[in-house]
Amino acid sequence: MIFKNIVENFAVNYAHNSIQRSLYNEFNIDILTTTYTKTPKKDKKYMLYAHVPFCHTFCPYCSFHKYHYEQELARVYFENLREEMRQVKEAGFDFDSLYVGGGTTLINEPELEKTLKLAKELFSIDEISAESDPNHISPESLAKFDGLIDRLSVGVQSFDDETLKRVGRYEKFGSAKEVKRKLELALGKIPVISLDLIFNLPNQTKEQLINDINTAKSISPQQITFYPLMKSELTRENIARSLGVSNVDNEREFYEIITEEFSKSNYKQSNAWAFSNEKSADLRDEYVGSNLEYLGVGSGAFSFLNGELVINAFNLLEYGKRIKNRQSPVIAKCGFSKKERLKYTFLTRLFDGGVDIKRYNDENSTNINKALFMELSLLKLVNAVYEENGIIKPTFFGKYICIVLMRDFYAGMDKVRAIFKDDAKIKRSKVLRIMSENTEQKYEPNIIQPRAAM
Ligand SMILES: C[S@@+](CC[C@H](N)C(=O)[O-])C[C@H]1O[C@@H](n2cnc3c(N)ncnc32)[C@H](O)[C@@H]1O
Ligand code: SF4
Repeated sequence: MIFKNIVENFAVNYAHNSIQRSLYNEFNIDILTTTYTKTPKKDKKYMLYAHVPFCHTFCPYCSFHKYHYEQELARVYFENLREEMRQVKEAGFDFDSLYVGGGTTLINEPELEKTLKLAKELFSIDEISAESDPNHISPESLAKFDGLIDRLSVGVQSFDDETLKRVGRYEKFGSAKEVKRKLELALGKIPVISLDLIFNLPNQTKEQLINDINTAKSISPQQITFYPLMKSELTRENIARSLGVSNVDNEREFYEIITEEFSKSNYKQSNAWAFSNEKSADLRDEYVGSNLEYLGVGSGAFSFLNGELVINAFNLLEYGKRIKNRQSPVIAKCGFSKKERLKYTFLTRLFDGGVDIKRYNDENSTNINKALFMELSLLKLVNAVYEENGIIKPTFFGKYICIVLMRDFYAGMDKVRAIFKDDAKIKRSKVLRIMSENTEQKYEPNIIQPRAAM
């Protein structure tokens, strides 16, 4: 058992350090002085991501790009968003799905409705996902999106009143009991309702976690997602101020509880952190997980196109000015080496449940056993993956490694957000300073708790 813990600890740290190297050392952000035009590959359909950067109030753990809501600001913003979609259409893109993320995407219902309708007119979109807080899911509000939104993920974070109070959500969205009631009323109004919760919050107890799992299941939504708490330099202090700091990291132990509790229910694991009701199989989850290439519209939206991360202007005025003048909204981009792209693709597929070797080799014109020889050998050695019928599948431990890597990846995106936050004009020195700061999520040595022998 002790040997197993040492090996697993080593593997987690190795994976963590390796993604840190990829994200920080090989991450060369190029602030553009020339125009970047997003261009599609012939006959390829992408996923479209649209960002709605507004909230009424801010939650301490949340680093997503957002502004305080003002009706007029939002109205102008949505107009620009629609104009950017038209420009993307003119560039020759087509999309089969749309993911609207925020912020609070339903914060201005009439504007969102117009935007979704336009997206359906312009592109061959057959699936729309959006995110909401518990205040915008009344049956009357959702009725306006009947036939428009196919999947809505609602932020719950926790069903513990004390936690909700500490992060300021009790006053905004109601007690756990009230949130549960709002969710029950929303069920059935949109084909797929998904609940988003966060685990491994500082000082969260095992009992609180089990209560979160059981309450979520008792509502019977089509999907439940448990995100590990992600900390970055943008949120670390606010998290500590609101929830305190804990000298124990329960991430792995809590992840094990979550997967065990769901394995006893009629929810199936649909990727490393999401569980779907058996009746609603084959749900599309995070845009990063399922879609390897996507185009982002809106201020601060990321695109991942042709192996490059492409970044839209964050500053609302700068973004609006560029769209109105029909200039590209792209302010920066970042290329990845072929090896980094292969690793990223491998991770996202493994995160989704398995890597089909033939498909992977065809899509990437490679031989996975040669290209990722070192990585695969190590993953097999520590019993994180196994091969079955031409598919590389994660074991429980492999899924946990995916969780660690995915949250590291999100924290890496926060570095990018930190660079561009608030500034209309970015200086190279700021990029270098932020990229070289060592602010990674720390690993406490007790990340793997000794448990009873297996
Ligand atoms: C962009 S937010 C939008 C949610 C919506 N505005 C709300 O507040 O309910 C999407 C989800 O990301 C998750 N999330 C945000 N920050 C996180 C963090 N630091 N760690 C883990 N999950 C986080 C939360 O579960 C959140 O509901
Ligand atoms: S969690 Fe939701 S409401 Fe809170 S700041 Fe983030 S996007 Fe806004």
